Amino acid sequence: MCGIFGYVGYKEALPFLVEGLKKLEYRGYDSAGVATLDKGKLFVSKCVGKISDLESLLQQKPIAGEIGIGHTRWATHGQPSHLNSHPHEDCRSELVVVHNGIIENYMELRQELSARGHKFKSATDTEVLAHLIEENLEAEGLFSAVRKSLLAVRGSYALAVISEREPGKIVAARHGSPLIVGHGEDEKFLASDIPAILKYTGKVIYLDNGELAEISSEETRIIGLSGKSVSKKLTFISWDPESAEKGGYSHFMLKEIHEQPNAIRKTIEGRVEADSHKIHFDELNLTDEEIRRVNRVVFTACGTSWHAGLIGEYLFEQLAKLPSEVEYAAEFRYRNPIIDENTLVIAITQSGETADTLAAVWEAKARNAKTIAICNVVGSTIAREAHGVVYTNAGPEIGVASTKAFTTQLTVIYLLALLFGKRRGIIDDNEATELIRRLIEIPQKMEQLLLSEPKIEAIAEKLSKATNALYLGRGKGFPIALEGALKLKEVSYIHAEGYPAAEMKHGPIALIDENMPVVVLALAGRRYDKILGNIEEVKARGGQVIAVASEGDTMITEKSDEIIYIPSTIESLSPLLAVVPLQLLAYYIAVKRGCHIDQPRNLAKSVTVE
Ligand code: F6R
Repeated sequence: MCGIFGYVGYKEALPFLVEGLKKLEYRGYDSAGVATLDKGKLFVSKCVGKISDLESLLQQKPIAGEIGIGHTRWATHGQPSHLNSHPHEDCRSELVVVHNGIIENYMELRQELSARGHKFKSATDTEVLAHLIEENLEAEGLFSAVRKSLLAVRGSYALAVISEREPGKIVAARHGSPLIVGHGEDEKFLASDIPAILKYTGKVIYLDNGELAEISSEETRIIGLSGKSVSKKLTFISWDPESAEKGGYSHFMLKEIHEQPNAIRKTIEGRVEADSHKIHFDELNLTDEEIRRVNRVVFTACGTSWHAGLIGEYLFEQLAKLPSEVEYAAEFRYRNPIIDENTLVIAITQSGETADTLAAVWEAKARNAKTIAICNVVGSTIAREAHGVVYTNAGPEIGVASTKAFTTQLTVIYLLALLFGKRRGIIDDNEATELIRRLIEIPQKMEQLLLSEPKIEAIAEKLSKATNALYLGRGKGFPIALEGALKLKEVSYIHAEGYPAAEMKHGPIALIDENMPVVVLALAGRRYDKILGNIEEVKARGGQVIAVASEGDTMITEKSDEIIYIPSTIESLSPLLAVVPLQLLAYYIAVKRGCHIDQPRNLAKSVTVE
């Protein structure tokens, strides 16, 4: 939530700031601002709205300087307004701060600072930082003043500060919200996320919690909150800069839906071989003996990643015969969970920065459970905090609605369940070879499925005026129903609910009439006959049925108003295919309704506050 970008080097900072903020806009987009230092003088420009609004403002009134910081906001304290937009300044207008996170004790700090004569302009929690730093600046110098000020602060932050007093540097700090420093030739970049700097450099330093950086064009100096110097290694990010561009697609969401076959290939690559039963995970950090000792698996995650966990529950029970459950991270962390050293807690997260998921990992570690992160962003906090990590290798996911992260998470979970099944003697080598072969077929089947896009677009046209929708599924189709409903809600703003189809009779059936579209996951498998029964119940009450069915199913034809076929596969892998038409359906409905697809209202890509 909120994006921070900074530049210090030998070129004009403004184009970098605007470009960087555009890349970070998925983190928040209710207001934005930039500040530069030119010949030792501070210049600030900010406004309510998107980066394009800020860009227009800056075209009329550009600001110069070879050093600057910028911010794109997702409001927490104080409504979106000019005064509440970042950067925030001190009383003397000598320094400015941009901040991502929440200063929990800001009320008490604000009272103390006001009593000492500071005048506040905004309703934000961030502004206290500017005033605190101001108090220490003269005596301590900027780096030390920021450090000292942070000792008074409770909460989470990623922040950047520039000051007229020390014009050649940005001081940044991190506690709870992500921040990276990118190293170019005689220039440095500061950003909340990798895609923002990929175009300029792949060499980064990840700041850890409680670390501060003093960044100039020549060097990055890092200290801890105690003031002790910290030595950090540069990490090389191998993501292709093109992967952070739209590449001819009208939206990142559509591009990322189409990237799924290749993303899954990359997830599998190097981990399995065709016609083999072997599975390798380099950073899993679990010995065969530790795998055998696990007697329970708890998945923890939020949102779409939680839906992946629900499927994980089915897959681990089925393929590894391990008792498994899935918990919303925000519930798990406060629940006093009963877990021990034989519990494996698997945190699923695209960003690796979700505050609740991170806290759930800490909670699990505190109770001696083994933890694994299934994560997309290399080097992210959760990836580093968990005992082991399996990267999904999906490349940057920029659309706020998660698509390729979800299907690559499912791919990893399937392989992990197979690995556990093998080590526990549930699955023999022949069976494993066959299950791997079926997985390797999926990307090509998904490509075939994506050819149904025009048909799905036509269905979307018919559904675009709906005000509600139901999604029904059984077994592994149920989490996909939840995911389909979530995609529709977040990008098209149509109210939608996912239900286990059998639950319909216990309440939701009352909603069905001729205006209610009902998307039914009617996939081949053990529960197929039951789901046909549920479709009859919907039809009998006048509902419109949009069925997602397996190729070759003729029984479904007369029972549904619309049918989208998915290529045949085994039941365990059908979620990977079945979710794709639902992603496209949500996307095209949102297009027809003129919604902001990559930046839906009120949402941010990475939820770094509770
Ligand atoms: C929905 C969506 C969110 C995320 C959730 C968790 O499309 O993207 O529900 O899945 O915020 O985020 P991560 O996976 O980054 O922990």
